[in-house]
Amino acid sequence: MEVVNDYMQHLHGSGLYPDKFICHQKHGNRVEIEEASTGRRHQVLTFCTNDVLGLAQADMVKQAAVDAIMQYGTSNSSCSVLSGRIDLHRQLEAEISQFKHLPHTHLFLNAWMALQALMDGFCHLAMPVPGFRHTRETIIFTDVLNHGCIISAVVNAGNRSGKLFGHSPKVRVKAYRHCDMDDLARKVKRYARPDDRIMVISDAVFSMDGDIVPLPQMLDVMAQYPGSLVVMDEAHASGAIGPQGEGIYDHFGITPQSVIERGIVPIIMTTFSKFAGSAGAAISAPSRELIDLLDVSPTSIGTISLPPPVTAAALESIRQVRQHPEKVQKLQANTRYLRSRLTEAGFEAIGETNVIPVILPEDISPKAFARCLMEEFGLWVSPIWFIAKPRLRITANVLHTKEEMDRLVNAMILVRERLGASLVQCTA
Ligand SMILES: Cc1ncc(COP(=O)(O)O)c(C=O)c1O
Repeated sequence: MEVVNDYMQHLHGSGLYPDKFICHQKHGNRVEIEEASTGRRHQVLTFCTNDVLGLAQADMVKQAAVDAIMQYGTSNSSCSVLSGRIDLHRQLEAEISQFKHLPHTHLFLNAWMALQALMDGFCHLAMPVPGFRHTRETIIFTDVLNHGCIISAVVNAGNRSGKLFGHSPKVRVKAYRHCDMDDLARKVKRYARPDDRIMVISDAVFSMDGDIVPLPQMLDVMAQYPGSLVVMDEAHASGAIGPQGEGIYDHFGITPQSVIERGIVPIIMTTFSKFAGSAGAAISAPSRELIDLLDVSPTSIGTISLPPPVTAAALESIRQVRQHPEKVQKLQANTRYLRSRLTEAGFEAIGETNVIPVILPEDISPKAFARCLMEEFGLWVSPIWFIAKPRLRITANVLHTKEEMDRLVNAMILVRERLGASLVQCTA
């Protein structure tokens, strides 16, 4: 423990450790939070929630969660292979399959476990079966800026959740430059061997840069390798992009079926923690066999199934999105408005989605900037300085009014002037 204690002292001393907040109340975007280190309370207007459609607080979604508790209790208290599933699981899988236009779907507790299962199942299959020998290697191509859950899954793809079967052939991983489809094409050509099983995996919307993967160009590259898998992590795409909020395929006006017809296998990961007012993840695929295989992966059979209220909230949320695409359109209008106001005010807002990263001049610390916004203006944005290039990470959501977005931009102009001119040092 000496090393840990010493390291933590240095980490806290360096100012790199993130501030922690505890929420006491939420009313839409108005939140009462407490600073964990001091106990100080702030009433703030949030621009950092991922509840982009406001569904985590919607009456119908809350009621669905309560009804599920009354019917099934708070937990399923076991994994599905030991004590079965609840009908809500099946309903949610069917709803996602319709939403994503892929016929087969399987649920997981979160994105990390879903992708681990995908690697386990696709690369290593399941238990050894007499008379079957798996000899083909897998090669995985991954964007350098992919989310941590993808990085973790591909880095661990060499074994099946820690086990290496005698029949497991090798898995090779190659990273390509961020959203650079020429680089992807070059690398697939250079590294994929004729007998390889090929997978390309990418965030659909990048969680830190707020930009969108160039899917049409990616599909053009992969169409030259029939049978290859194109895996989209739609954590920030579902409910946010595309006229119906269906995500990346909807955004580009492409159907998964047309992709299948080009010989590519489209796989989509949906998560419920952002647009769907809940938690959990799902993998959808055109093949029943792949989904059945995921069902016996270690991260399916070795852990608790999605709890009833969480499942019900996600199910009701997706129904709400499908019935009310106007919610998604409002989110997109808010995104355009806030992005244009920030740009007019001279801020460097990168990306194109409701995840709005603002890169500040080098001499201004995002942490000090966010602290000033909170202390003086009651505005909560996330400063990022420890996991990516320093920036403010702002998220627009459907509940923001124009006045609130103006309030944020006006406050940011003032804070920039003050911190840039070193006139004020808010306690950071
Ligand atoms: C692109 C991406 N994938 C996956 C995740 C993890 O999702 P969850 O927390 O719902 O499991 C996130 C969360 O931030 C994300 O941004």
